[in-house]
Amino acid sequence: MEQTINRGLDGVNIDTSSICFIDGAKGELIYRGYDIRELANKASFEEVVHLLWDGDLPTREQLDGLRSQLSRSFGVPSQVFDLLRSLPPGVDPMHAVTSAVSQLGALDADADAVEMDNVRRVGTMLLAQFPTVVAAIQRTRQGLEPVEPRSDLSVAGNFLYMLTGEEPTAAATNVMDGALVLHAEHGSNASTFVARATASTLTDVYSAITAATAALKGPLHGGANEAVMEALEKIGTVENVEGYVLDILSRPGGRVMGFGHRVYRVLDPRAVVLKEVSRQLAEESGEGKWFEMSLEMERVMEREMEKRGKQVRPNVDFFSASVYRMLGFPAEMYTPIFAVARVAGWMAHLYEQYADNRLMRPRLVYEGPRDKRFVPIDQRG
Ligand code: SDX
Repeated sequence: MEQTINRGLDGVNIDTSSICFIDGAKGELIYRGYDIRELANKASFEEVVHLLWDGDLPTREQLDGLRSQLSRSFGVPSQVFDLLRSLPPGVDPMHAVTSAVSQLGALDADADAVEMDNVRRVGTMLLAQFPTVVAAIQRTRQGLEPVEPRSDLSVAGNFLYMLTGEEPTAAATNVMDGALVLHAEHGSNASTFVARATASTLTDVYSAITAATAALKGPLHGGANEAVMEALEKIGTVENVEGYVLDILSRPGGRVMGFGHRVYRVLDPRAVVLKEVSRQLAEESGEGKWFEMSLEMERVMEREMEKRGKQVRPNVDFFSASVYRMLGFPAEMYTPIFAVARVAGWMAHLYEQYADNRLMRPRLVYEGPRDKRFVPIDQRG
């Protein structure tokens, strides 16, 4: 019997979900019925968290309740800071993130219960603690002490504050908040699938989120934004962009980071928003070079993909690289920042998974040998 194989689970539906809809042909992204372009411009990250977790935008009272829950949970045990200091200098910050999440689980006496009230408790804690952990990772990399979170700032504002110890401007907070909204959720992407598959064994939330951060690290997924910035830094000037792109495309299997997507066949709607944010920051910051280089790379890729008859367009990671650069973040911190946002989406999916679970167990079509007879070792070879 012919066995259907969908490599990369391409086109395979693993379950139903009410969280996120993506139309790859039209370039549409919808969180629980709301268009991402409207949410990115009008909703705060905390409003989007409530939307993703509870099914609709919050009332003022519900938002105040979520905000006070999060502000009570921003702190992390001092053992986490000790762990970060114990890691080798130059460690990949995403290894530091996965180590810290796993340690948070080890320090939580009630980590293992997967009843919904405990899953929500842990999810809320993790959403609040990720910014503190990621900011502490950056401070430790700089040989600085972590900055204690403030309870009077939003998730975005607190994150920026904990990176520098200075209260961020409203403009920077607004850009950060919008970036968190744009990166919060994206259906069954690799790291969210890993989170759901891990939770489907009924292991705990910390373990599922540790697995998800490990998956996000990869350059084909969340690690692409860092790879885009490293490429732009390596290229150096607008004039060198074309040669760089042509060189990559000349190599078998060559991939230009920040382009292409398993689902989108047109421009990723998040890239549409981030491109304008990058343009605005370039005008305001005087660091227009990164945006100009990004525009040139987009132009060359569009021409070359047109020649090849392929629909490979910028994805969310492409323009976020220049945005984060102009916000002053080092490239190695881009993927941890992606994780700060994506905890919202991962947890929304874990709520669905734990609420109506079925163990995930796909198959492989066996192509190996059959009916082999055991031979004692002295008779082998
Ligand atoms: C994210 O899934 C999600 O939703 C993820 C995400 C989220 O929010 O969670 O959107 C976030 O991970 C965005 C993607 C970030 N990754 C990158 O930017 C890495 C570079 N991109 C590629 O590696 C690739 O586009 C993937 C991995 C993203 C998608 O790969 P697919 O669907 O497996 O497509 P493919 O590699 O088979 O490419 C199809 C064709 C190929 O032509 P052939 O070799 O078959 O002739 O398109 C070409 C490729 O050559 N192509 C590219 C390209 N991406 C695809 N050519 C050059 N550069 C690229 N980046």
